[in-house]
Amino acid sequence: MRVVAHISDLHFGMEDERIIEGLLEDIAGFHPSVVVISGDLTQRARKKQFEAARAFIRKIPVPCLVVPGNHDIPLYDVVRRALMPLRRYRHYITTDLNPVFQDDELMILGANTSRAATFKNGRISTAQIKILADTFSAAGSHLFKVLVTHHPFLPPLDYPYAALVGRGALAVEALEPCGIDMLLSGHYHRGFMGDLQSHYTAVGRSIIVAQAGTATSKRTRGEKNSYDRIIIGPPDICFDRYAWDGRRFVKAMTTQYKKVNGAWQLHPQNIHETR
Ligand SMILES: [Fe+2]
Ligand SMILES: [Fe+2]
Repeated sequence: MRVVAHISDLHFGMEDERIIEGLLEDIAGFHPSVVVISGDLTQRARKKQFEAARAFIRKIPVPCLVVPGNHDIPLYDVVRRALMPLRRYRHYITTDLNPVFQDDELMILGANTSRAATFKNGRISTAQIKILADTFSAAGSHLFKVLVTHHPFLPPLDYPYAALVGRGALAVEALEPCGIDMLLSGHYHRGFMGDLQSHYTAVGRSIIVAQAGTATSKRTRGEKNSYDRIIIGPPDICFDRYAWDGRRFVKAMTTQYKKVNGAWQLHPQNIHETR
């Protein structure tokens, strides 16, 4: 069994300092196997914002897997945006744009979907798809395989026409045979879960999709700040969403799935509890 903390859309520059402290306390307390940060670490890719994001990551006492978001590319500095869009991200956060976390139960790969040319939208390249497919294929079938991107493969339930990651269908087609189990993303500041098959009808396998809300940004778009604790113990997977209640993170919702005959099914005793 593994426990993953999935946090997204920190937006340093627009962060709530109390929530940052609460999040670090939580992570230190439940000590996940790995923390996944699915992009938008900063609000405007400024030096001070990246410094704050780096300081936050350095306080996390477990491995972190990080991918950039569209906000981690400068928006108004057109020269920097055109010529060196991820320079600050590489300098302050990591030079690794194809991050990997692996232990004896879990393989998590990250892919950068943020592009200077697409502004807030994102896409994945054919070269990235090949790297991901080769890496997932070479890994043992006993591993639970997870892909992390900032831009999502599935639209939020209340926003069905939301832009999805470009070349997503191509990526799904290539990655499905590699035994991928789960996709994690952020971007829309809305937390939700679903099955990839609900949107990509050609997909032959059940692949679970989990979107995190914004962990710490003051731009919450109608939802409380939140992050997910994901407990992975195939054939069971449990998502515990922790939402900020003004003083601390509290468990706001639990969603459990069980893989039955190759398909992720909501657990019969699924508990939904919203505060
Ligand atoms: Fe964001
Ligand atoms: Fe974003």
